[in-house]
Amino acid sequence: MKTREEQMIWVEAVSYEDLAVNTGKTIRYQGEEVALFKMKSGKLTAIQNRCPHKEGVLAEGIVCDEHVFCPMHDRKIHLPSGLVQAPDTGCVQTYSTKVHEGTVFIGFPVGKELAC
Ligand code: FES
Repeated sequence: MKTREEQMIWVEAVSYEDLAVNTGKTIRYQGEEVALFKMKSGKLTAIQNRCPHKEGVLAEGIVCDEHVFCPMHDRKIHLPSGLVQAPDTGCVQTYSTKVHEGTVFIGFPVGKELAC
């Protein structure tokens, strides 16, 4: 049986050092768009780049602690889980990340429908 990591395609995204803290970076891969963030702690998170409300570009949102605020109507999304915070509802897809030799990779599931 394959591990979760083996069931992904790891796509080279960007140099870890080139990522600004609390600033989203848009990564595109085969029609998917991901918002990649390096949080103040140095931890990486990657989420679907479109807000579930009206498709605001989340990589352009303001990051505060572990949340990003959608630049269009200010919905608050928890970066590690992808959950929209109350009083709003909804979620965005999250993606795995890893750093290898200073390069950030994003994991895209193989052969599965993306869902949040
Ligand atoms: S499009 Fe994101 S809150 Fe409306």
